[in-house]
Amino acid sequence: MTATLSLLVREVRYLAERIVGLTLVDPRNAVLHDVAEANDPARTPAGATAATREDAPGILPAWTPGAHIDLLLPSGAVRSYSLCGDPADRTRYDIAVLRDVDGRGGSNEIHDTQWVGRQVAVIGPRNTFVCEPAPHVVFIAGGIGITPLWPMLRAVAAAGASWEMHYLGRSRAAMAFLGGIERTAANARRTDNGAGAPSRATVHIVARDEGGHFDADATLAAAPSGSAVYCCGPERLMQAVERACAGRHALHLERFGRPALPAALAPVLAQNEARADGAGGTSPGSADDAPCDPDSAFQVVLQRSGVTLQVGPDASILEVVRQVRRDLTFSCSSGYCGTCETRVLGGRPDHRDDVLSDAEKAANRSMMICVGRSCSATLVLDL
Ligand code: FES
Repeated sequence: MTATLSLLVREVRYLAERIVGLTLVDPRNAVLHDVAEANDPARTPAGATAATREDAPGILPAWTPGAHIDLLLPSGAVRSYSLCGDPADRTRYDIAVLRDVDGRGGSNEIHDTQWVGRQVAVIGPRNTFVCEPAPHVVFIAGGIGITPLWPMLRAVAAAGASWEMHYLGRSRAAMAFLGGIERTAANARRTDNGAGAPSRATVHIVARDEGGHFDADATLAAAPSGSAVYCCGPERLMQAVERACAGRHALHLERFGRPALPAALAPVLAQNEARADGAGGTSPGSADDAPCDPDSAFQVVLQRSGVTLQVGPDASILEVVRQVRRDLTFSCSSGYCGTCETRVLGGRPDHRDDVLSDAEKAANRSMMICVGRSCSATLVLDL
């Protein structure tokens, strides 16, 4: 079950142009954490040694690289942010937020709020972008898409694996974690990988103001066969990577933000948002409270793929969607691992999983498509 936490914003710092980093801690150990962060064992208080105990005050739920948390902002908006700190440090969560002037307002709210010392409701962490072991890993980050990839890269490098990072941005000044990434590569190249050869670790910076150009086809054609490719960034970049990867490598994408919805589907989304903007669920007595028919067929619109599929009474959404999206990852197929969690853009899901909390189910922002169905005739998914 995903946790809902009330965390204190302990620190806000500049990471790069238009990007700030927030550090969230449990209010009970905010002071302890300040000391522990000095990274000086001699100064680490006794309480900090309890960091490995799950029940110790201030110890946050564990996470793995690729995980994200949802922040419930003061305006009522909910926004997802990838964790970009150190998973071994259970006393803090770190996120990075790009001010997106053309966005829906969440990032502006974060940038314009005096956060230090304030508490914020946090849901998670959850991981729908898990980094699996592979002989060679290709990371492709576009701008703020670096956030889930940075902890993955550190984990892959720490394991002595072979990797390459392609990091695209407006300019080096606008690229967060750049120094750390380059240092990680330099360290990896100095380290023997256990096979008697230096680890293959390369960083390719593609900065627009330097005339940089990223060629997805050439990059992925040059990667060793069977590489695992992890990509996060603007939709256009991910589509190019998707095309270039087809039939070559195992591709893992993390999408953020909401793509444009066709005009015909806008009313479905508006209806969904109106529900979410209310008390976090459907209004008592509204038509949306009508019981779901467990045996009904419905249609699923894969928004980004531009495909509409029929889901019969005996099929799962996951089974049907995988007929056209073989890259979709899943694990338990029973609604308890969270791997198949998918964003819902429209319609009313019939949640049947053990992953989401009641509040998350009422918000209808995502669902587990291995077991979930639809109460509405049409369900629009961010796929
Ligand atoms: S595959 Fe595990 S929840 Fe869907």
